[in-house]
Amino acid sequence: MFLEKKKIIIAIDGYASTGKSSQAKLLANFFNYSYIDSGAMYRAVTYYALQQEPKGEINFQLLLKSLVNIKIDFLYTIKGQQTILNGKNISKKIRSLEVDSQVSNVASNEHIRFFLTTQQKMMGINKGIIMDGRDIGTVVFPSAECKFFLTASPEIRAKRRYNEQLKFGIKNSYNEVLQNIINRDYMDTSREVNPLKKAKDAIAIEVSDLSLYEVFQLLKTEIVSKLKN
Ligand code: DC
Repeated sequence: MFLEKKKIIIAIDGYASTGKSSQAKLLANFFNYSYIDSGAMYRAVTYYALQQEPKGEINFQLLLKSLVNIKIDFLYTIKGQQTILNGKNISKKIRSLEVDSQVSNVASNEHIRFFLTTQQKMMGINKGIIMDGRDIGTVVFPSAECKFFLTASPEIRAKRRYNEQLKFGIKNSYNEVLQNIINRDYMDTSREVNPLKKAKDAIAIEVSDLSLYEVFQLLKTEIVSKLKN
C-alpha cells in the first residue's frame, strides 16, 4: 500500500467495459482511497424505474417524481463494492441485459444526471477518492488532479462484458452483448447532456492490447508522479 498525506481526486472515464471499474478498485486498494462506481448509480436508478414499469418501458414522468424516494448506498465487502438501493442489495440485478439496454436512456435525462452528479460531487469533498464513469473528469470533478480516459475496440469490450455477465450467472449471447455495447457507445457519446468525451487534460489510454496489470502500472505511475509534485 502506498501511504502519502497528500490526497487527490482521480477521475477515470471511458467507454463501457474498458475495465475502468477494475482499475479503480485496484488503485483504491493501492492508494487506500475510496472508490465509487458512478455507473452503478445510473444502473440503480434504471433498476428502480424498471420495477415501477415492469413492461420494460421507462415512465420518466413517474420516475422523476420518485427520485426523492431513491437512496443509493455503497457497501464494501470481501466480494467488492455492493450497490444498495433503499436498503436492498441490487449488485447482481443491475448487471442484467434489461438494465444494460435501458441505462443509457435513463442516463440521458438531465434531471436524473443532476440528481446523481450532485451526490457524486459531495462524495469528493474530502478528496482521496477514485471515481469512474463517463463525465467524471468533465462534469463531476473538472478540477480532478488526475484524469484518465480509457478506450478499447467494441469486440474486446463485448468479450469482457460477456465474461463478466457469465460470472454473475447471467447468460446472453456474445452478439447481443456486442450490439448492446455498440448502442450504448452511440447513446453515451451523442446525448445532449454531459456526453461521454475526453477531458482536455485527461490522459488517453488504449487498453485493447494491454493486460489488467499493464494498465494498472501505467495509471499507478501517473498517479504517483502527481502525488510527488
Ligand atoms: O459504467 P457502466 O457501464 O456501468 O455505466 C452504465 C451506463 O451509465 C452507461 O451506459 C452510461 C451511464 N453513465 C453515465 O452516463 N455517466 C456516468 N458517470 C456513469 C455511467
